[in-house]
Amino acid sequence: MDSNNTKTKNAHDSLARQTLEEGTQFLRSVTQLADKREVEASEDIFSRAGIKLVSGGTRLSGKYYDHLVAHKLLKPIEQSLSITDAISAAQLFDLICEEARRVPSLCRIFEQNKSFERLQGYFYQLEIPAQLALRLSVMQEDRPELFQHSLTVGMLCMLMGVRGDLPPEEQQALALAGIFHDVGELYLDPSLLAPGHRMDNDERRYLYTHPITGFLILRCFSELPKGMAMAVLRHHERMNGRGYPYGLLGGQIDRASRYLAVAEVVASLLTKIGADSRINMKLRLNLDKLDAKAVGVMCALFGDSKTEQESLPDDGLLMTRLTQLEKLFDGWTAFRTTLSPAVIDEISYFDERVEGSRRMVLETGFGRCQLEDLLSKEDREDSEIRHELNLAHTEERGNSEIRQELMVMFDELSWQFQELTQALERKLADYGWSLPVSRRADFNLWMAQVHEFIAR
Ligand SMILES: [Fe+2]
Ligand SMILES: [Fe+2]
Repeated sequence: MDSNNTKTKNAHDSLARQTLEEGTQFLRSVTQLADKREVEASEDIFSRAGIKLVSGGTRLSGKYYDHLVAHKLLKPIEQSLSITDAISAAQLFDLICEEARRVPSLCRIFEQNKSFERLQGYFYQLEIPAQLALRLSVMQEDRPELFQHSLTVGMLCMLMGVRGDLPPEEQQALALAGIFHDVGELYLDPSLLAPGHRMDNDERRYLYTHPITGFLILRCFSELPKGMAMAVLRHHERMNGRGYPYGLLGGQIDRASRYLAVAEVVASLLTKIGADSRINMKLRLNLDKLDAKAVGVMCALFGDSKTEQESLPDDGLLMTRLTQLEKLFDGWTAFRTTLSPAVIDEISYFDERVEGSRRMVLETGFGRCQLEDLLSKEDREDSEIRHELNLAHTEERGNSEIRQELMVMFDELSWQFQELTQALERKLADYGWSLPVSRRADFNLWMAQVHEFIAR
């Protein structure tokens, strides 16, 4: 790790420690929870200056927030509180299964892969440490969407652990890491993550610390399976080193973290309407970021759950779409060669994303020439040719499946371009940019082609 990286790492670490120590947001949530559920001081609560703020045995309520937040507490608040009817591990397991039945695409997979007896046995005898149970209760009451997301990720982790045939202890660690992976978010102001909120750099720094905050919380519980806290720490790291908080590379990331990363991505896709049909493609398009084995396990789960065949387009339409796409990528390359380094720098994020999409299309094996070969092959048994065409991953796929995946890929790319053009248009509206007037007509032309591609 070079000195810059070490500096960034240290900055993230100390911000996470500070966030956890201050715990203002958590204090607010837990005192609000006390208005609805019975939360009691399990011991006297002191300030660092030695002032007794609350006596042991006092039932808390929302009105204690102002009193407590005005002092630096001697101990983190969760160490001095207890909640009656805290969620048990058995209830948690049942809630996860309930959640799986509620989400249609997850329900199919859940019903087909119900071999959780061993995990169920583990959860039914597990005692969640009181401080963690309190945090889960806070999440359940105060951040229901985050709680639901945690259940979904927990379920996907359970499915992946079983399907991937991981050793029992790793399955337990993965399942619990799935449930607790975003516990650090309880220390962030929820308005930061509200839909439509555009984070500034400072806010992003806080977001980047949530895996570390989660790790710092979880590592204290030696009774929980080994590897769980570490998986939480690394759930936003990516194989190509472009994740956070530390930007680790694939080889530095343990297996449970890699599985958890895939589960997280899929859980987010599941919340988007119709996204389940995009899951396998979305994962394959992100093989530079996600672990291929973990992706394989997830694709196998979703592949199994396919029930109906969509009506398939003919080759002509597919080729037209692909030609359109090729023009878009080539058009972008031609356009960017006319720009000054300063302008390219200004739009580097956008530029990288377009190049990334192009690379992914090629890596997916759907380049134009490759496709012509693919579609003209009646005999899908010729593995040698598949190999030559760099289509190893298309093995076992029939012609109709390829058409279907192509449609999903176009759908995915439309979605990606839509997101990108919206981001770019927002940037232009907010700040303008230094693109010379003479180049704007070319840019508008290119944007018109993008819109045409998106509209189909
Ligand atoms: Fe998450
Ligand atoms: Fe996260």
